[in-house]
Amino acid sequence: MKLPSVIAIDGPAAAGKTTLAMRLADHLDYLYFDTGVMYRAATLAALRRDLDIDDETTIVDLVFTLDIDVRSPDSDSDGPMVVLLDGEDVSAELRSREVDQNVSKTAAYQQVRAQMVDRQRIIGLRSPVVMVGRDIGTVVLPDADLKLYVVASVEERARRRHTELLRKGRSDSYESVLEAMIRRDKIDAEREHGPMRAAENARVVDTTGLSADQVFEIAVQHVMDASQPEVENGS
Ligand code: CDP
Repeated sequence: MKLPSVIAIDGPAAAGKTTLAMRLADHLDYLYFDTGVMYRAATLAALRRDLDIDDETTIVDLVFTLDIDVRSPDSDSDGPMVVLLDGEDVSAELRSREVDQNVSKTAAYQQVRAQMVDRQRIIGLRSPVVMVGRDIGTVVLPDADLKLYVVASVEERARRRHTELLRKGRSDSYESVLEAMIRRDKIDAEREHGPMRAAENARVVDTTGLSADQVFEIAVQHVMDASQPEVENGS
């Protein structure tokens, strides 16, 4: 059997994309690539310089000058990916409240997206990959062998994100997390360029009420369904 070598996973925040993608990548021995970190790194760079995120020209000009690189972690890194911003490891700072609140604005600018998409495509076509984002199956890798669109109810997603934040020592209320999530979903789904949506041929996986193991099993079944029999060469 020839397994799908390019797997695109899209869907809204906290739907379970990351957990699933990391497990699939590990299981298949593929590269795991979360594209959201690139938009987060650009947002962090703008915040560090005290730039106005609402000013499109300023943000686009900044992004042109940035060197954003992603690496697989080595044994002493604790995240799933190492993100380098102009050579500095910023992985730990990408999930701050300020970045969360501003990333969807940065990600809505067409020229920001164009630059990121080019870089993501190069990485995606280099080796077998599980790539995660909002527009991977529709824009970045429209020819992906398997496209999964992972969803869950907004209340469950907010509950999961809230628990995750509490675990990290943050004290955000459930209501504020829910509200922020609804706001980010809206910007991501309604933007003109690369909006978050399922590709026509994506398989939808609803993770509401399912454990990570159950979601993994469903995804593995999709991987098997999308596999092709090896074609024998010769006459
Ligand atoms: O982990 P979480 O789902 O909260 O967010 P993320 O995947 O790190 O993405 C953060 C934000 O980056 C999203 O809300 C989108 O605005 C943007 N993004 C995007 O526009 N396109 C992508 N391929 C990935 C992320």
